[in-house]
Amino acid sequence: MTELLRHPRVMNNVQNEVREGKPHITADDLEEMHCLKAVVKETVRLHPPIALHGLEAIEDVRLMGYDIPAGTLVIINAWAIGKDPMSWVEPEEFQPERFLNSSIDFRGHEFELIPFGAGRRGCRGTSFAMATNEFVLANLMHKFDWALPGGAKVEHLDMTECSGVTIRRGIPLLAVATPCSCYCNL
Ligand code: HEM
Repeated sequence: MTELLRHPRVMNNVQNEVREGKPHITADDLEEMHCLKAVVKETVRLHPPIALHGLEAIEDVRLMGYDIPAGTLVIINAWAIGKDPMSWVEPEEFQPERFLNSSIDFRGHEFELIPFGAGRRGCRGTSFAMATNEFVLANLMHKFDWALPGGAKVEHLDMTECSGVTIRRGIPLLAVATPCSCYCNL
């Protein structure tokens, strides 16, 4: 929601996509919402809720020239990987369209994007989490127009993230929801 408020053009594209046609969104409709899906993907790239993944090597391994003995705790920085300029063009920018013609997914098969980890200890709830995020966001975009309160400027939004096991906004987002006139009488 923060990134969409900061990027009104993107929010407008998502609203046009989700408002096309129906007064209510079903889970099946999400499959055709490519712009919405790209927004959620870009969000977990730029703001992964879990930045550091801790894994223990169960056997000696050699990886990219490094010897990692069994029992070593390996910390993988998914936050930094998602912003690596070797993998991403303008990595600090919120540009969901980068995913529109890209096969890169978040399921741990492409190591440029691992918000849910990868391999045997990867997240078991990936599909559930993403479907929930997409469904909630689709409905928020479908039913309401959004603005910052009191004419606040998006440039002044504090983007500081809190640290901890999971990362979120340091200061909660305050946004004003106005029921969308296209569906408020349905
Ligand atoms: C956006 C939401 C979520 C994110 C970003 C996320 C991310 C992660 C990450 C990074 C890991 C560790 C992977 C690793 O160390 O390689 C993990 C593990 C796990 N997640 Fe999630 N998760 C999310 C939501 C969920 C949900 C909704 C569920 C269950 C319904 C879930 C269930 C699990 C389980 C069971 C594990 C442990 C897997 C194992 O150790 O074998 N997660 N998740």
